[in-house]
Amino acid sequence: MKRFAFAVSLAAALCAAAGETLTMATEATFPPYEFLRGQEIAGIDVEICRAVAERLGREFRAENMDFDSVIPAVTSGKADLAAAGITVTEDRKKNVDFSVPYVTTGIVVIYRNEEPYTGVDQLKGRKIGVQSGTTSDAYVLDTLKQEPERFKSTPEACAAMLAGRCAFVIADIDPAKNCVKGEEKLAISDFLSSESYAVAVAKGNEELLKAVNETIVAAKADGRLEKWVAEYTAEADKLKETFESGASAASDGEPSWFAKAWQSISDDFYLCFLKKTGDGSPRAMYLLSGLGITLEVALFAILLGLFIGFLVAVIRSSHDKYGYFPVLNAVSKIYLTIIRGTPMVVQLLITYYIILRSVDSKVLIAILAFGINSGAYQAEILRAGIVSIDPGQMEAGRALGLSYWRTMLKIILPQAVRNVLPALGNEFIVLMKDTSIVGYIALIDLAKGGDIIRSQTYSVYLPYLTVAAIYLVLVMTFTWLLGKLERHLRNTGADPVHNDS
Ligand code: ARG
Repeated sequence: MKRFAFAVSLAAALCAAAGETLTMATEATFPPYEFLRGQEIAGIDVEICRAVAERLGREFRAENMDFDSVIPAVTSGKADLAAAGITVTEDRKKNVDFSVPYVTTGIVVIYRNEEPYTGVDQLKGRKIGVQSGTTSDAYVLDTLKQEPERFKSTPEACAAMLAGRCAFVIADIDPAKNCVKGEEKLAISDFLSSESYAVAVAKGNEELLKAVNETIVAAKADGRLEKWVAEYTAEADKLKETFESGASAASDGEPSWFAKAWQSISDDFYLCFLKKTGDGSPRAMYLLSGLGITLEVALFAILLGLFIGFLVAVIRSSHDKYGYFPVLNAVSKIYLTIIRGTPMVVQLLITYYIILRSVDSKVLIAILAFGINSGAYQAEILRAGIVSIDPGQMEAGRALGLSYWRTMLKIILPQAVRNVLPALGNEFIVLMKDTSIVGYIALIDLAKGGDIIRSQTYSVYLPYLTVAAIYLVLVMTFTWLLGKLERHLRNTGADPVHNDS
């Protein structure tokens, strides 16, 4: 109960702090409107919203998420405004209020030069990649009357097209230009439709809407908007430079296949890991800081899970054996049923969007969601361990004058844990790898870090294989440590008969 009260007051405190900060929801694979400059989100939309925050005298923060979560973030109150190159559409107007538009633009077809684009008819019945939830998605659905291939971002759709997984991609012109830049195999068509971008705020938030409108009007009038467009277009242009290899120029004659392969691997290595991103740090930093997040979430979730697991296991086994704690036992059963009966991703999303929606720290949200989830599995593993201990042990402890809890803690549990350590270790490993879904709440962990590198470089092998190798090393190290602990427990402690400490 105390813990619950703590969580509530923590949430309230964080919520109060959030009132001060103006939060912008966006999806940062959309240069020059928003893109990642190292870990930071930069772009025209960010400048507009920062200027709104300045006008209101509030702190400013931009949150990166999937595009189809950007408008829900505003309607659910997770963010104050959404700016993500969002096209004003009648459907969206039903859910949010739009500011005055700040740019007129449109969508285009990205095609491969080996199959030049000739007109809309060519698109019918073909596989067309789009970013999920965008107006391009709606275009394929409503105008071409077919299902698109939905991707998380336009660069991802382009990478899929290059890999032969779709025939065309439809996207907004600016990010489309960015995708084809330096990519000889790709080109873009004329506009398919004309659209304008505006900032979205929650329905009825007149005050904020007024501030946004004033900001946009002022930025247009004093030339700031124009300046941002020029600056960020220039920066975005540099974002995706493919690495020019010097190899073939230097050698005379055709280089051997081995030399070519080696050169392409080392070019790729440079591009994916060493090349500096906008904030001056090498791309590998996405993996390093992601690894930190993965370890942090996994470690604390394991500990929280152990705590819950012990509690629930003791309650359940005490109830089954001696009829203690009937109410807590019922609560535990409900907990186990719900947690084990629903998928982890859904629990994570519910925690993020509904239960802890006012909590800012995504790491904290992930730790709580994973800890609570793992607690259910650990509880059942530990209960199996407790049940496996001879009831005589409890009786002996009580006969020696120890209380129920002391006997449990000092005599039963250590032996139970030793018996179930392999199963417990298994659960920890599953948990550690499962944290790779935190990308759903836009937390940049190891897996998401690899994904960002892939989306910026279009290179798939190195980022994903490296991420896989790092997880493998983590799990192997962990298994080794667990093996050591198991041997240690077998040889020494956790044996009340031979251990009288
Ligand atoms: N303008 C399009 C739309 O509103 C695409 C926007 C995508 N934006 C982004 N930040 N990824 O649907």
